[in-house]
Amino acid sequence: MTAPVILVVNGPNLNMLGSRQPEVYGRETLADVEAACRAHAAALRLDIEFRQSNHEGDLVTWIQGARGRCAGIVVNAGAYTHTSVAILDALLAAELPAVEVHLSNIHQREGFRHHSFVSKAAKGMICGFGSHGYILALDALDRLIRGKCEK
Ligand code: DQA
Repeated sequence: MTAPVILVVNGPNLNMLGSRQPEVYGRETLADVEAACRAHAAALRLDIEFRQSNHEGDLVTWIQGARGRCAGIVVNAGAYTHTSVAILDALLAAELPAVEVHLSNIHQREGFRHHSFVSKAAKGMICGFGSHGYILALDALDRLIRGKCEK
């Protein structure tokens, strides 16, 4: 039996992780985050597709492409979280369980980061745990797609 596939999709500036505002986002690079996600996914017997783009349309296309093919989505849309109706609509169209992740605690930050369009399409949101949030999101999706929790 083939393993369920999870799309892990990252938005703008997350390619700069490690060097970008390390006091806010930590010193791990996106490659480190990907490696940790791959190791954890393997332990859960999940496959992952790990992607990053600075372009909103790429994120929309990848999320659309997950429909009917992937089992769930982990999404850190970066700044598009706070602006993008297009990403919200793509997530709604994908009809898959999605978990929203932010490295930082967006509610402790500037007011414009407190609102998330992504949250309207997400089962839940994990923020403030740095890169460990991705691992928590994979655990949450694992439980959701294997029917170990109700929603
Ligand atoms: C972020 C939070 C966003 O407000 C910000 O624009 C990012 C990263 C996070 O992971 O903490 O780029 O999504």
